[in-house]
Amino acid sequence: MTSAQDIRPRKDELAAQAQYFSTSPNASFHSPSSHSSALTRTIPLPNAKHLKPFATEDIKVLLLENVNQTGRDILSQQGYQVEFLKSSLPEDQLIEKIRDVHVIGIRSKTKLSARVLKEAKNLIVIGCFCIGTNQVDLQYAADHGIAVFNSPFSNSRSVAELVIAEIIVLARQLGDRSNEMHAGTWNKVSNGCWEIRGKTLGIIGYGHIGAQLSVLAESMGLNVIFYDVVNLMALGSARQVNSMESFLAEADFVSCHVPELPETKGMIGAAQFDQMKKGSYLINASRGTVVDIPALIDAMRSGKIAGAALDVYPNEPAGNGDYFNSELNSWGADLRSLKNLILSPHIGGSTEEAQSAIGVEVAQALTRYVNEGTTLGAVNLPEVALRSLTMDEPNHARVIYIHQNIPGVLRKVNEIIGDHNVDKQMTDSRGDVAYLMADISNVNTTQIKDLYTSLESLPSRIQTRILY
Ligand SMILES: NC(=O)c1ccc[n+]([C@@H]2O[C@H](COP(=O)([O-])OP(=O)(O)OC[C@H]3O[C@@H](n4cnc5c(N)ncnc54)[C@H](O)[C@@H]3O)[C@@H](O)[C@H]2O)c1
Repeated sequence: MTSAQDIRPRKDELAAQAQYFSTSPNASFHSPSSHSSALTRTIPLPNAKHLKPFATEDIKVLLLENVNQTGRDILSQQGYQVEFLKSSLPEDQLIEKIRDVHVIGIRSKTKLSARVLKEAKNLIVIGCFCIGTNQVDLQYAADHGIAVFNSPFSNSRSVAELVIAEIIVLARQLGDRSNEMHAGTWNKVSNGCWEIRGKTLGIIGYGHIGAQLSVLAESMGLNVIFYDVVNLMALGSARQVNSMESFLAEADFVSCHVPELPETKGMIGAAQFDQMKKGSYLINASRGTVVDIPALIDAMRSGKIAGAALDVYPNEPAGNGDYFNSELNSWGADLRSLKNLILSPHIGGSTEEAQSAIGVEVAQALTRYVNEGTTLGAVNLPEVALRSLTMDEPNHARVIYIHQNIPGVLRKVNEIIGDHNVDKQMTDSRGDVAYLMADISNVNTTQIKDLYTSLESLPSRIQTRILY
């Protein structure tokens, strides 16, 4: 964390007072923007308090890998200093740049290893403007009080739309007809080609994507059944089926939308293909390990499965090029030789709309974290939020204390803040790291400075921030 003197105070009265104890961008408070998380689904208060103990332009943001314009705009509008680069950086250049910044935004190519993060002395938050967070050493970040956010659900609609397209393309063998025409062959057939109206779509995993797909499919005239480990409210006329065997026996199209978990690995294999209807179809746009591909190859060769669409694979190339070969996956050639099989390169969520939504979601999460300390949606810290302070609470401060999750810390923290009126407080832990947020009233700037110094001196301390 930077020292108090590193950040110029804001030019207003409060900031002038704050310069004595403010400690970096963390020493900021801003009224919450609206967001839809279940925990804080509150309408922003009209008289929400806008307090910042330092100048917003002192917050340095580095955005790499051509982060979407929507995200850049949101961060720039906050008044932060935003540096934008189209590409990722080699490690040595990244280390040079990251030393200075409070916020970094990346996509999948930038590796934020412990070695890089060790140099990031001012960094308080990382935004992954993508779905995955494997490129970040999440544990190192958590252990050093650096929050990490991503955007796991912004592309749900894009995936659902692709699956709808695939259902029709498979039912009409359109991929094969198109390939034949590209090769100069006219092959007008109706045998084995179907309308989808009145057929049954079986969705495995009725989460963000499965539920979107359910609504779209019904509007196309499909009947929808779903299988999920959780009992869920069905949308429209969809129906949950609790036995996988009955589910598979009923569906004309089976579409997988489960996460990658030990339980979902190979969940569609030889036994499941046996249970499926003869002439049915399989779609997998979830994770490559969910479907046993050699078993799919057998089921398609035998005619049990009339067609399939795969968007994901157990091993996927790291970049674009002619890498989808048998070296990558031993069954590659067998798979490619099958008829009525759509193969796509993990593009389910790859649309302009999804990129734009990711930009908004991640930039808003970063802004909320910097300005309010809210960790909702963080992938490596516990999720903590408090309702906003208002103009009717002029002498309040928000204490954020990120600490090691060891016995006795809360007693010590409460001894420090307990001399004041604690209006509200929330604390949660995740593994070895805990996050405490408390709004306290009737404090003056000298008392805030004392609070900060006392909390910083506790041995359990990872990071202290006081926003007011
Ligand atoms: N192809 C792409 O480009 C793309 C894009 C986005 C997401 N995805 C993948 O799609 C999948 C679904 O994403 P989502 O956002 O809908 O996830 P989600 O977490 O919203 O929903 C997953 C659902 O699966 C259910 N589930 C978990 N384990 C199960 C099991 N063993 N059996 C049955 N149901 C189970 C959960 O209860 C949940 O309802 C994920 O694997 C994700 O990685 C792929």
